[in-house]
Amino acid sequence: MKIRLIGPQEDVSPRQVGPLRDGQGRTVSYLRLSVTDRCDLRCTYCMPERMSFLPKSDILSFEELLRLVDGFIARGITKLRITGGEPLVRRDVMLLLEQLSHRLGTTSLREVSLTTNATRLEHHAEELKRFGIERINVSLDTLSPETFAQLTRKDQFTAVMRGIERAREAGLRIKINTVALRGVNEHEIAEIVAWAHGQGFDMSLIETMPLGEEMSGRSGQYLSLQTVRARLAERWSLEPITFSTGGPSRYVRIAETGGRLGFISPLSHNFCDTCNRVRVTCTGMLYTCLGHEGGVDLRDALRAGTGQDAFDAALDRALIAKPARHDFSEAGLDQPATRRTMSVTGG
Ligand code: 5AD
Ligand code: SF4
Repeated sequence: MKIRLIGPQEDVSPRQVGPLRDGQGRTVSYLRLSVTDRCDLRCTYCMPERMSFLPKSDILSFEELLRLVDGFIARGITKLRITGGEPLVRRDVMLLLEQLSHRLGTTSLREVSLTTNATRLEHHAEELKRFGIERINVSLDTLSPETFAQLTRKDQFTAVMRGIERAREAGLRIKINTVALRGVNEHEIAEIVAWAHGQGFDMSLIETMPLGEEMSGRSGQYLSLQTVRARLAERWSLEPITFSTGGPSRYVRIAETGGRLGFISPLSHNFCDTCNRVRVTCTGMLYTCLGHEGGVDLRDALRAGTGQDAFDAALDRALIAKPARHDFSEAGLDQPATRRTMSVTGG
């Protein structure tokens, strides 16, 4: 089998099949799988206006994606999140989600969730719910149609709001993810929180991360969540809670709104020691850290049809090399940590 390692080569210890454990002793039980690098929006912090996307022949077929997921389930993955780009722009993605839903309850997979920008959500919300998808994350950075058009370079605000409403009606649990951006949405963050909580949604705020080689110069838009939190605390009482999704968010409950607010602060507060996740791109590259170049190509193991052994060996090899932490820092904002953007790695 051919394993293409990019990034630092590590010594490979003998293959041990079982749950996925990394070189730091962390157990990995959560897979984020990107099904496309394409998106119908062009958020300025995420991708350039004229983005070059991957050739279709490089993209894993549904059959390959299912085999890949089954390979991960066999290694103890219990949570799966489908991401992109925008996953709902991939043609027939609902067929894939339907197939994945058959793994719920029949395998050790306990949850399938989705991250979406909601532009097409109105057409799919009911079906998602029927497939056993309980929770979705919606990326939304503003409640102003004008700011939305500037920030995403597309005029889709109304469709997004319709999508969110339809998802709420369908009974999906919704978390709004908002990237905090200096001078763009910083003065409406409290308003977005109040709106989200008023609708019964959870919400997380995210710091911009320096991802993507064509995306230099983020320091202008970077807004520390320490600052945002201090501002929100002037208006509301923020009560830290221990709620955790095993992920990077630190949560508070806002007494006045009754809602939960998460802070994902990769730059101002590092959270890597409890990281339980890995990401696979739509071409089958396994990245064990959002902020590092090193990855292992699983597509060869899938396409060569060499079976679970080769796949397991590739997984173990990648996991051993999972970095202890990312290297994002406020000082490094103008130096992309990775050549690939978030839309390639999967959010
Ligand atoms: N930094 C932080 N968040 C980003 N996202 C996309 N690119 C970046 C970046 N460079 C966010 C999207 C979405 C989630 C999947 O990731 O807004 O909420
Ligand atoms: Fe698309 Fe999400 Fe990137 Fe915006 S942040 S361009 S919605 S992939």
